[in-house]
Amino acid sequence: MGRETALPLTFLGRMAALLDEEFVPFMAALNQTPVPAIRINTLKLSVADFAARSPWPLTPIPWCDQGFFLDRKANAGTHPFHDAGLYYIQDPSTMAVATLLAPQPGQRVLDLCASPGGKTTHMASLLAGQGVLVANEINRDRAEVLRRTLERWGIRNAVVLNETPERLAERWPGGFDRVLVDAPCSGEGMFRKKDDARTYWSEAHVAGCALRQTGILDSAAQLVRPGGRLAYATCTFAPEENEGVIWRFLQSHPDFELVEPRWLPGFAAGRPDWATWPAAADEQAACLANTVRLWPHKAQAEGHFIAVLQRHGNEAPLAWQPAEASKLSEADRQAVNAFWQPLVDIPLPERLTLHVRDRHTAELLALADDAPDASGLRIVRPGWHLGTVRKGRFEPSHALAVSLKADEVCTRLDEPIGSELVTRYLRGETLPVDGPPGWLLVTVAGFPLGWGKRVGSTIKNHYPRVLRWG
Ligand SMILES: C[S@@+](CC[C@H](N)C(=O)[O-])C[C@H]1O[C@@H](n2cnc3c(N)ncnc32)[C@H](O)[C@@H]1O
Repeated sequence: MGRETALPLTFLGRMAALLDEEFVPFMAALNQTPVPAIRINTLKLSVADFAARSPWPLTPIPWCDQGFFLDRKANAGTHPFHDAGLYYIQDPSTMAVATLLAPQPGQRVLDLCASPGGKTTHMASLLAGQGVLVANEINRDRAEVLRRTLERWGIRNAVVLNETPERLAERWPGGFDRVLVDAPCSGEGMFRKKDDARTYWSEAHVAGCALRQTGILDSAAQLVRPGGRLAYATCTFAPEENEGVIWRFLQSHPDFELVEPRWLPGFAAGRPDWATWPAAADEQAACLANTVRLWPHKAQAEGHFIAVLQRHGNEAPLAWQPAEASKLSEADRQAVNAFWQPLVDIPLPERLTLHVRDRHTAELLALADDAPDASGLRIVRPGWHLGTVRKGRFEPSHALAVSLKADEVCTRLDEPIGSELVTRYLRGETLPVDGPPGWLLVTVAGFPLGWGKRVGSTIKNHYPRVLRWG
């Protein structure tokens, strides 16, 4: 494909030694252009409904029921269905992780290293709105990116945090049915796509990543309830960060064992013989064959490694302190009702909380039934953001717009794909469309894009500035 930065020579030497006769097809695959893929948002429509209106031919991905390869010319990133959150553009290999962790509706799920949110959105779809999803990202800026991704996905039952794994482990030991560690890694699996992954790579970086991954996994293990599951994933080929980290984890956590994965087409087994320390030649290490590797020369995918571990025992998750709902003042409730009652055709959620910004402004959020009290932690969003109460008026949020179904809103401007008004709306322009005054939901082919507010014969644009088309 001809990237600007050459592959590191030491990396090539290591891979040649590991792969032996497979090294030639591996290298051939590294020089090919990756195939783009999308995963459908089943919180908004079924896979069959998407397929019926898909702008592009879809080729199923064997390890993800909602995932499809596209052809290279597909304009998935610039189509209004993307703005409507109908799909996520994602490396096909990374879609295997939530498939294998398989969160069930109603469970408590924690994504410990979540930004930009690919796997979080996948798990949210599998939860189907039931249970609670805590999405954590340690880096503050990346936590904001995560928040935006989850909003676009239309998730109503997520809590977004910006914390360290250690602080979460201290707060909610045994708190979750499912925990995902999609670990920061040396990123060798991204060499086909990212020059900077090639630039940063060194053997010392691989060793440093392995150490950091071990620390994150220690915290993650504490967060899993007895009988719950922990998934560990990386996008690197380096055995030190994959079989090596899991092997060491199993030595120090005898209450966990590897779960045999569902062997789907394209999956290759992990390599016990590559876990070199401590004493991996030991026959106990044979269990490492129950980890999954995705290889670019064996599947249409970037490099990925996945291990699913089960904690022994069977106990309910920690009985945590629930997040406390706030009591709205009469004035605030009236302001919210004045917007909600004429326009939104579902009941206002019961468990509401107000996050006060200043004397005149507060954010209104709805709490998931089982949301934990996160006070004292760095909270990005404690729940579903409904809007802002400002000086006795309620302004709906973008998160609310894109999490509603079109038929849950009474006043809409619906435009077909290809309509110039859709392009103008996404660019942030005012729309010259007559009608009754007030808030309305702008939808494309029946799927919400954002709010508008009609004044006279124009619709003022409330599409968030940061999302507007350039
Ligand atoms: C591979 S990325 C996660 C990708 C994400 N799960 C997705 O599917 O879109 C790893 C994340 O771990 C975060 N991270 C870095 N150091 C960390 C640490 N010590 N503890 C927890 N997370 C960390 C990074 O900021 C990064 O966002």
